[in-house]
Amino acid sequence: LLTSGCTTEKTIKVGIENNFRPFTFTEGGENKGFEVELWQAIAQKANIKYELVPMENGELSKSIKSGEVDLAISGMTITNARKNNLEYSNPYFQTGLVILTSSDNVVIKGKEDLAQKVVATQNGTTAYNYASEIQGVKIRSYPNISDAYDELKKKNVDAVIFDERNVNDFSQNTAEGKVKIVGELLSKESYVVVANKRNKYIGRVNQAIEAVSKDGTYEALYTKWFGA
Ligand code: ARG
Repeated sequence: LLTSGCTTEKTIKVGIENNFRPFTFTEGGENKGFEVELWQAIAQKANIKYELVPMENGELSKSIKSGEVDLAISGMTITNARKNNLEYSNPYFQTGLVILTSSDNVVIKGKEDLAQKVVATQNGTTAYNYASEIQGVKIRSYPNISDAYDELKKKNVDAVIFDERNVNDFSQNTAEGKVKIVGELLSKESYVVVANKRNKYIGRVNQAIEAVSKDGTYEALYTKWFGA
């Protein structure tokens, strides 16, 4: 029997959120974003064949746990609480949470001003956890972060707390000048590739993350998506 000489590995499934700009998003039927391209480079180095599976954020961790997808890459923050059930790559992106409010809001200048205020965010995220620990805050939480932003645009909520780069993307591209970021970074967070405990890829993924950092691929993608 004739074979190519190399072992054929299965095509794995990689989950991404369909609306987490500019990291992973689906537009005109295409998957796009910094992490979509970063993953492509990682997979190439690691010699991993894959297919992307876009979905809502709420389905991501479920799909990893159930084994419906093998890995996920989508701005997922490593936290102590999450370490129990899942496996993580080394971090490849440093970021944090910020507060977004209406451009004409003169009251909210930082976290201290959020007591008794209505804060919107996305379900099941580090931002949700952060907001729920602020004394007296009223949280409105949505499966899709766009709904939180819409509520702020309409002034149905006082602020949004969410991941800085996603907030930047919204305020620069979609907010029509109606919002502003206030205060400092609220937290330090690192994004990682997530996998279920049964996976056998994280070691190779870590090596590939190092390789794309060393050969300039990471920097080129970073500049493309975030500027210099
Ligand atoms: N980084 C935050 C977290 O891990 C928010 C991520 C929201 N979106 C996503 N695609 N994971 O909770």
